[in-house]
Amino acid sequence: MTMTLDEFIVGLPKAELHIHIEGSLEPEMMFALAKRNGIATPYADVEAVRAAYSFSRLQDFLDLYYQGAAVLMTAEDFRDLALAYFDRAAADGVVHAEIFFDPQTHTSRGVPFQTVMDGLLAGMAAAKTRHGMTSGLILCFLRHLSEAEALETLEQARPWLDRLAGVGLDSSEVGHPPEKFARVFAAAGELGLKRVAHAGEEGPPAYVREALDLLHVDRLDHGNRALEDQTLVARLAAEAMTLTVCPLSNLKLCVVDDMAAHPIGRMLRAGLRATVNSDDPAYFGGYVADNYRAVAPLLSRTELVDLARNSFLGSFLPLEDSARHVAAVDAFAAANPA
Ligand code: ADE
Ligand code: ZN
Repeated sequence: MTMTLDEFIVGLPKAELHIHIEGSLEPEMMFALAKRNGIATPYADVEAVRAAYSFSRLQDFLDLYYQGAAVLMTAEDFRDLALAYFDRAAADGVVHAEIFFDPQTHTSRGVPFQTVMDGLLAGMAAAKTRHGMTSGLILCFLRHLSEAEALETLEQARPWLDRLAGVGLDSSEVGHPPEKFARVFAAAGELGLKRVAHAGEEGPPAYVREALDLLHVDRLDHGNRALEDQTLVARLAAEAMTLTVCPLSNLKLCVVDDMAAHPIGRMLRAGLRATVNSDDPAYFGGYVADNYRAVAPLLSRTELVDLARNSFLGSFLPLEDSARHVAAVDAFAAANPA
């Protein structure tokens, strides 16, 4: 029996490399946590929340995303949030996930850094037991806040360095170039952390160059606008730089006008190590398999397999683990020809 395209997408072993755990807060859980913690929400019901999720740019989304995160108070909340994501990801064929979290969104509301870490680490341990899924944590600095606040956050992370895979940079891109965080990223590199940054989602190709040259990133989040600069594309291909691309996010935030015009196929054909990810699945209408489904009409089966291979090649797993996962992808593809 040959597999349907959908079975093939779900069955492919995959890593997810671009998921903000706060962006996996589904409206149902938002209401449940608001009730558990005695917090008022501005919405009448779940339908009203979903109806509000119409965005014409990144900032429209960020305003609701930070507001939604205000229901997260206890370690149990962060554990439940993470485990709900891991359950969804496992059902989509994700075997390894590197998740972003935004500690400043929580510490600024009086939630201790330790509470966030305790909860997320408990969720990660439960995902390993329940699904055999491995995971890593990437601490993101909010780029609309100051360099000093980012340095303070890195200080708070010191007791947890062995539990962090790396640091990232997210939030409002335009007006907050990577250069603003060059010293923070240098300090993180000295502490042995991997470095990633959102760049070229709304910001220009120059921001992508700054992420490479000033932040020394190991991976680039989004990177769509790099395609405007052919010299930059050639460099990213030559350096085998992984791009964590998020198709449904791109559509919802108007980074692309139409999924048929999504650049994922062009990226792969330009030799870029592109991957497909969900970004903020509760806000953008789908988890990782939905993102593969959305771009599948633009790609060959071989290219879908390349996306899954790239997800492991671009991960921060030890080399022998990523090689083992790539071999599993190849074995799955060989066993299931189109
Ligand atoms: N925070 C959560 N999702 C984000 C995105 N796509 N871009 C920038 N910051 C974010
Ligand atoms: Zn993102």
